[in-house]
Amino acid sequence: MREFKELHAWMETIRDRFSSVDSLPEPAFTRDGRQLISFSTNNYLGLATSPRLIRAARRGLEKYGVGNCESRLLGGDLAIYRDLESKLAQLKGKDSAMLFATGYLTNLGVLSTLPSSAVTVRFYGFRSTRRYRYAYFTDELNHISIREGIRMSGAEKAVYRHCDMNHLESQLKSSDATTKIIVTDGVFSQDGDIAPLPEMLDLADRYDAMVYVDDAHGTGVLGPNGAGTTEYFGVKSPRLICMGTLSKAYGAIGGFIAAESWVVEVLRLTCSAYGFTSTLPPDQAFAVSEAIDMVCDEPERRERLWANQRYFLQAMDDLGFRLLSRATPIVPVLIGNESECLQASRRLDEAGFHVDAIVFPAVPRNQSRLRFSMNSNHTKKQIDRLVDVMAELVSSKTVDAIGAKTSIRAASDVAAIRRQELSKIACSRASSDSHFTSPQIARPSHRSRPR
Ligand SMILES: Cc1ncc(COP(=O)(O)O)c(C=O)c1O
Repeated sequence: MREFKELHAWMETIRDRFSSVDSLPEPAFTRDGRQLISFSTNNYLGLATSPRLIRAARRGLEKYGVGNCESRLLGGDLAIYRDLESKLAQLKGKDSAMLFATGYLTNLGVLSTLPSSAVTVRFYGFRSTRRYRYAYFTDELNHISIREGIRMSGAEKAVYRHCDMNHLESQLKSSDATTKIIVTDGVFSQDGDIAPLPEMLDLADRYDAMVYVDDAHGTGVLGPNGAGTTEYFGVKSPRLICMGTLSKAYGAIGGFIAAESWVVEVLRLTCSAYGFTSTLPPDQAFAVSEAIDMVCDEPERRERLWANQRYFLQAMDDLGFRLLSRATPIVPVLIGNESECLQASRRLDEAGFHVDAIVFPAVPRNQSRLRFSMNSNHTKKQIDRLVDVMAELVSSKTVDAIGAKTSIRAASDVAAIRRQELSKIACSRASSDSHFTSPQIARPSHRSRPR
């Protein structure tokens, strides 16, 4: 383990990047006794610390205690989990739903299990009438938990360029797999754009595929009832497997899939991430159930979120910044140069704002961005102060908004540059499936839709 000692010593040099906080963002929070405003939290609607949600969690704590300490296949299957699953299924317009301890575990568990369920149930006596071959078709910018779940499955995998439906179609066309599964983020977490689900479902119909949508950032935020990307587009199909997390807009912890019951009930038996581990604690299930109601009966939270998003987009436009997406509360503002981006984030921090600086290797060199996550509890005054700091960064030439604007002509250029960088890294790595080996990125082919 000598290498770990070396790694540990090196980590001292980057320790200041991982500071702990004294309170969680509402979006105001304190760090080292200093108050900051977070423009990075996934607590989009400010539910995590709302008195109504805390009261709901407390009811769960008082009724059942702190944890369930057992798999649901054994003694841990409380009625509250089944009730929450019915609510999630209904929200997503599906027959059934299935809970997991986290969103990460949901993707890992479900994607690794789908292709091998029939093998697992052979132990119980099942015999398949024919041999099925599975293949995944996955967007190159999908979340890491998706990439890891697919890799663990051992199934065939084709990576298509970001939101490029022509590329996806060519891969579906040339595949002779018997079971094709397209996998996409609903809202892309680093880029803030939305997957073109209607076009994807058209392809799924034509090529007899399923579509697995990870709607971690859409659930609770998009669509009239906050049901997410599928509701936003108004799409419904038995081909859809809707995945979501409970740790973002819903302010708690957990993950789920909602799908047809013939998918869900088989997975209950075959998915180790469901059967061989404990699930979210009961108080969290109470909280999530309440959060789903709150999203519907406190619509002013989402109204404020979108009003804040629009207000901020306008201010960034006025300053001449280039925005990599305008579709969701995740607003990536292109800065370009890495040291400028890090310096900008430090300056924002000094001024009392926490904003994520996304730099290489998370994105290609010279494609650094400040990623702003808008929140329903941001006040106009806070946004105005933030915009003042951004303006000052431009006037002091700390960042070059105009340079970033003119050097990149379109989102597809950003994607193309990212593609080159990623393939350079891919070449320099022996592994064929590292985090960075996505081969290509291209122009999003979908149109924007009204929210
Ligand atoms: C797209 C996406 N999927 C899955 C996850 C994992 O969710 P959780 O934090 O609930 O485990 C995340 C978390 O950041 C995410 O952004």
